[in-house]
Amino acid sequence: MGCNVTRLFFGLLITAVCLVEAQRGKEIPFYLNSEDLLEISSNNIDQLVFNSSYVTLLEFYAPWCGYCKQLKPGIEKLGQTISKKNLPVQIGIVNCDDSSNAKLCGEYNIEGFPTLLTVAPKSLKKIANSEKINKKNYNIDVYKGAREVGPILKHLVSKTKKELKFVKEFQKLYAAITAEKNSKKQKPFVLQLITSQGKNGKESNALERVLLTTETQFAGSVAFLKTSVDAVGPEMLAVCNSDSDNKLIAQLCSELKTRIYSDKSASSILLLVDPENEAYSIYEGKNYISEKQERNKLKALGRKISQWVVDTLGTENVTALDGPFSQKDSLLKRSVFKSKYSKKKKKTRTRKSAAPLDEL
Ligand SMILES: *[C@@H]1O[C@H](CO)[C@@H](O)[C@H](O)[C@H]1NC(C)=O
Ligand SMILES: *[C@@H]1O[C@H](CO)[C@@H](O)[C@H](O)[C@H]1NC(C)=O
Repeated sequence: MGCNVTRLFFGLLITAVCLVEAQRGKEIPFYLNSEDLLEISSNNIDQLVFNSSYVTLLEFYAPWCGYCKQLKPGIEKLGQTISKKNLPVQIGIVNCDDSSNAKLCGEYNIEGFPTLLTVAPKSLKKIANSEKINKKNYNIDVYKGAREVGPILKHLVSKTKKELKFVKEFQKLYAAITAEKNSKKQKPFVLQLITSQGKNGKESNALERVLLTTETQFAGSVAFLKTSVDAVGPEMLAVCNSDSDNKLIAQLCSELKTRIYSDKSASSILLLVDPENEAYSIYEGKNYISEKQERNKLKALGRKISQWVVDTLGTENVTALDGPFSQKDSLLKRSVFKSKYSKKKKKTRTRKSAAPLDEL
């Protein structure tokens, strides 16, 4: 008997919950607790997806679809992982059940849910210099692989740049620093100089990944290179010990010599050279971190490095399509699920508690 009462009670409870859910169904966003996913619509797709240096995964879904429900935790996990690893990748979600997205979902010929598309930039320079949004600057493909975090992430990362260009010879570096006039203007570049301590180390690898994302964000307006003391050190020392008539080389030599051979703790030295203006800067942050460090550490380092680049070169001399200097911040914030819907909730609450005061 007791069992029946219990069953009846839970039956009623479930019915009640279902009724409430059904009533509010339209309002409860599918991805309510997601801070790392962007809600894409026809209003923001141009700036967030087709004026971005990042690779985007677009999920077209309908809240009632079973496979979408199955995939949901995976998509949320994917967003968290991308954010934690500070990858130049983003996840955009389009709710095709929302009538205001009907045109957008039609445009991409969405026939089943979920449909996953990857949107990858072809040429960052071209995108940064485009007067108009042009989808032709991107490769759009349907993702047909396994619908699991690992394979999707691997697919997205495969479309990003793998490593910084390695400068093997000192001559090349010398030419870049002195802006030897072969033809065009020598643009500023960031150089990761890996010391003997940093060789194949986790720290220099983690730093390189941060630099790759920063390079992507600046969309080709600043070059990012790497080299190692083993590769260029001996020749550099030879030049340092002879009298160089190039002012920039002479200054850099004396400063680098001390750092490379006295500071035995640094795994990399970060250098920013602006050959046109005969200027350089050495990043002074105690920067280097291991892969294991917690969420947002990599992002925080990326922000510091971007800040240093912008402070050194001047905002007007760099273009940022994504990241902390992209001027997309407010649009991004408005498009993130959590902030978007929690704001609405807070507003209703304030209104309710304010009511008695109004009555007085
Ligand atoms: C692309 O984004 C950049 C940076 O936010 C902006 O300056 C530029 O005007 C945008 N391009 C287009 C075509 O909207
Ligand atoms: C930006 O670049 C120009 C030309 O190279 C230079 O004159 C100017 O000083 C730079 N701005 C800053 C803040 O460094």
